[in-house]
Amino acid sequence: MKLSDIKSSEAELQDYYAQLRSQHITPAWIGGGITREPKSKAVPWVWHWRDLRPQAMRAAQLVGTEQAERRVLRLTNPELPGLSASNTMVANIQIVMPGEIARAHRHSGSALRLIIEGKGGYTVVNGARLPMAPGDLVLTPNWTWHDHANDTDGPMIWLDGLDTPLVRMLEAGFYEEYHKETQTIVEGAGSPFAKYGEGGLRPVWEAEPATRYSPLWHYPMSQARAALERLAADRSGGPLDGIILEYTNPVTGGPAMPTIACYIQMLRAGERTQAHRSVCCTNYHVIDGRGYSIVGGTRLDWEDKDVFTVPTWTFREHMNDSDRPAFLFSFTDAPVMKALDLYREEAKAG
Ligand SMILES: [Fe+2]
Repeated sequence: MKLSDIKSSEAELQDYYAQLRSQHITPAWIGGGITREPKSKAVPWVWHWRDLRPQAMRAAQLVGTEQAERRVLRLTNPELPGLSASNTMVANIQIVMPGEIARAHRHSGSALRLIIEGKGGYTVVNGARLPMAPGDLVLTPNWTWHDHANDTDGPMIWLDGLDTPLVRMLEAGFYEEYHKETQTIVEGAGSPFAKYGEGGLRPVWEAEPATRYSPLWHYPMSQARAALERLAADRSGGPLDGIILEYTNPVTGGPAMPTIACYIQMLRAGERTQAHRSVCCTNYHVIDGRGYSIVGGTRLDWEDKDVFTVPTWTFREHMNDSDRPAFLFSFTDAPVMKALDLYREEAKAG
């Protein structure tokens, strides 16, 4: 057995290819399609809060929640025009003004909210009222009813993270409007936070959830910050990401949602992390602090409330060159990659 060597004329080949095209068939041996390693179309990018906030406020002047199902500004990666911040996940800015609601609906895409501005507004998920304060993480997972309301006297602004590009690519999206504008709120000890909000304790009488997402839909910043500060006092943390904590599903210990993992990390003043990369895209939100990240050789300067994106298989390292701690929230599609045995990670040599 040996490799065959067939010499065809260019005209003959082109004639054959034209025939194939007319029959909607493509010869797989031309046109590439295989890369030696993942190469994202998306590029490293930062969106600054100094640009985002005025545009969110402008949207609130121009468009009502009657007109827009959600008043959302979609952060768009320059190389994914009109689409999303990253390949599989969006990072959007949503604003709800005093007295407004965003009506109830549900969809196949899973969503997270990281509260940026405003305290006292709330999200209702399957009847549970979840408070929203700056730095809090609120989940509205796959096919859960959710509506938002702002009964404060200032704007509520948050970062929306969703897996909608992935769901769209998989052609798996369903969407449904609730029969009323808002859900009836169920109060009391049945709330997800009362049952699952205390770290390693979980209610024994609750049946194991049939869904894979976390039954805890509200992770307050006060808890996360306290945990990070305790670890910082002990000089804990790894070389790749310093002190980083994952928001877990308290029942399984796994990611918060089947498609999205969420993290919070603390970079101490002067701390620099080691460059590393992984097969997942990651969107970051600067809860608090100032510094920069080198992402695929590009320096992204960031400060309070900025958003930046790291495409798949792209080296990133973070530097807090300020004199105060920095707190970064991030979310990735790593659970998808791990479920499909596609996940890899490596530290940069040297
Ligand atoms: Fe939604």
